[in-house]
Amino acid sequence: MPGVTRMQSLLFLLLFTSFIFLNSVNNVNAGITSVFIRDEWPSVDIPLDNEVFAVPNEHNAPQQVHITQGDYDGKAVIISWVTADEPGPSKVQYGTSEKNYEFTADGKMTNYTFYKYNSGYIHHVFVDGLEYDTKYYYKIGTGDSAREFWFQTPPEIGPDVPYKFGIIGDLGQTYNSLSTLEHYMQSGAQTVLFVGDLAYADRYQYNDVGIRWDSWGRFVERSTAYQPWIWAAGNHEIEYMPYMDEVVPFKSYLHRYPTPYLACKSSSPMWYAIRRASAHIVVLSSYSPFVKYTPQWVWLSKELKRVDREKTPWLIVLMHVPIYNSNEAHFMEGESMRAVFEEWFIHHKVDVVFAGHVHAYERSYRISNIRYNVSSGERFPVPDKSAPVYITVGDGGNQEGLAGRFRDPQPEYSAFREASYGHSTLEIRNRTHAFYHWNRNDDGKKVATDSFVLHNQYWVGTTSSQSYVSLSMILNMANPGIRINWLWH
Ligand SMILES: [Fe+2]
Repeated sequence: MPGVTRMQSLLFLLLFTSFIFLNSVNNVNAGITSVFIRDEWPSVDIPLDNEVFAVPNEHNAPQQVHITQGDYDGKAVIISWVTADEPGPSKVQYGTSEKNYEFTADGKMTNYTFYKYNSGYIHHVFVDGLEYDTKYYYKIGTGDSAREFWFQTPPEIGPDVPYKFGIIGDLGQTYNSLSTLEHYMQSGAQTVLFVGDLAYADRYQYNDVGIRWDSWGRFVERSTAYQPWIWAAGNHEIEYMPYMDEVVPFKSYLHRYPTPYLACKSSSPMWYAIRRASAHIVVLSSYSPFVKYTPQWVWLSKELKRVDREKTPWLIVLMHVPIYNSNEAHFMEGESMRAVFEEWFIHHKVDVVFAGHVHAYERSYRISNIRYNVSSGERFPVPDKSAPVYITVGDGGNQEGLAGRFRDPQPEYSAFREASYGHSTLEIRNRTHAFYHWNRNDDGKKVATDSFVLHNQYWVGTTSSQSYVSLSMILNMANPGIRINWLWH
């Protein structure tokens, strides 16, 4: 009958439309494994006589200069450097105009041995009482060997304070590392969130371990002397090397790279938190005890309660070992920390978790696996709007090379993954929006490859979705070659 036929046709049309719609939704959410491959430079460290490791000419001139945030809220810095020939003063002269140093701060000096290597004289000076949003010039060393640098303090803590972070991991000291560092320095980011594995000095033996810590300090000075790097420790910092009687974990790292852990009531420099601009940044240690009742667990439980999203809307967690990783390299290594902390991340609506360790790039959807327990049978991660985005940026370019083997098929939780070197930036615009980019190192240029608008988890829904669309459209028009994913974040 013609009526039935029309009904059947309508039904068919409805089914067909639903099929197309559902397919298109699936396509939006399907993860992408990038097939991009380009020749990389060999994964070997740059020779020590290369100019990137140059020692300053003058006798006992400060070298390996680096700064990090010194307090909880960004009104202090810790300035560190090494003198090679004699101790010299642990003194910083500083002020707000060039060559005019109104203030002086005194610190302390330390050194250590590693096998038969004797470190240089390592200076750490705490400089506090700084004004927000101010450029400071500083001078270290004495006489002709004195050196001068500058840094910019962050704006005062506030919910809509824009700020641009860079994220780098597993850097090492190869030509690929140099490419990452140079590309990062073009980004305009103001502070580095470093997710562990600094020098890869533990790839060497005997006295060369210490020597490669020194060369790395000189290598990164071009950035670390001028803006804070926020340090998290990785496995290459452990340096448990009993064959030469070196069994104290993190010995080189802890002597060289201080953190402001006391300001946040942490009991160890390995885990701590800072607040900077509109972000609350929590740094965890994958290689320190973290199970229930341990100092790191107790501290984190309290620190997460101190987070005030009205003041610092953005809650960012750094750790070395990724909790969600679909690369064959280091697969499941983050599972123990996931079992302990994932529920807290969701309860406290962490915005994003940055990790390294895997020498590739990967980004997850917002997913969680907190319903799993050893007897529940709920084995799979599920979409969870309260969960953070997990991003692995272990692609700094160290001598171990790329982790090129992703698991197949790509798990549903994995949104984008690519085995290339690069770095990320997170540009916070206000309390609701941040622009995120992962920048691949291409031949001599950086290419924004994975990009999206990150919506704040606490303030989500306070701005109309129309503005999300508009922002995405603007970004898409400005960067037609890159992916903008605004649906999921
Ligand atoms: Fe690692």
